Amino acid sequence: MRHFISIKDLSKEEVKHLVERALKFKQNPEEYKGKLKDKTIISIFFENSTRTRTSFEIAAKRMGASFINIDHNQSSIKKGETDYDTIINLSAMQPDAFIVRHYHSGYPYFLSRFTNIPIINAGDGTAAHPSQAILDATTMLEAKGKLEDLKVCIIGDIVNSRVAKSHIWMSKLLNWKLSFYGPKTMLPDRRWLDGIKIEKSLEDALSGKDFIMLLRIQLERESGSNIPSLKEYAKFFGINSSNIPDSYLMHPGPVNRNVELSSEILDSFNKSLITKQVENGVFARMSIYEFCLI
Ligand code: CP
Repeated sequence: MRHFISIKDLSKEEVKHLVERALKFKQNPEEYKGKLKDKTIISIFFENSTRTRTSFEIAAKRMGASFINIDHNQSSIKKGETDYDTIINLSAMQPDAFIVRHYHSGYPYFLSRFTNIPIINAGDGTAAHPSQAILDATTMLEAKGKLEDLKVCIIGDIVNSRVAKSHIWMSKLLNWKLSFYGPKTMLPDRRWLDGIKIEKSLEDALSGKDFIMLLRIQLERESGSNIPSLKEYAKFFGINSSNIPDSYLMHPGPVNRNVELSSEILDSFNKSLITKQVENGVFARMSIYEFCLI
């Protein structure tokens, strides 16, 4: 048994293994069928999700596991039970894994001190979203045929992005040339920026990259207050028909249409990998189950 909390905890070999297994699962369902027979997985999301929660559930069911989704609004948390006590009580029922998303950075590490049941991090605050990083790398390997020495630029609300933080760790393991671009108010502080180039203009950011990864302006984390307006952000940092890059385009979703990406590009750009990322999310999560549970 092992937890899956941050890319920071993994070796280069482990990351490559997770990504290669995800592609194997995609190519051949016989590789995953029945692998989680008799396993019970509990998901508990303290923050909203469409892609992550659903793909963890589909992956578990396709592998033969039972999957229980705790709706925290219907649980005894509403009667005042703490998040911690909720997990401890659910642990007593001996599930085989917990999928946890929490709005507090570091919460999965905190929980992992109190339970031997694998904690799989489905995103914590602004700290880490390791399963997204694995599915992104799977999509990159599928598109480009390699994982190492990639040129990647991440554009947008980087300070609030757990996806960007996970890719900082990926870039170190896989020797990516990683750069960031966005409003200065949305760049993280210096401790995150070792070895990362800050692009000087959108034109520079979009040129010569294998992958451009756009991030959502996280209105629920009040990142809207870091920019004058969404309209202005779209004008200076958005991708539209006037500045289409000659690179693959990625976005973890959900997308704010016509903010970081124009509707026209979102719906029809032939080098967009955004739907492919969602598709590969199921296989990446299968790979994470195999890594933690088997
Ligand atoms: N990318 C991602 O985490 O999407 P959800 O919030 O819909 O899970």
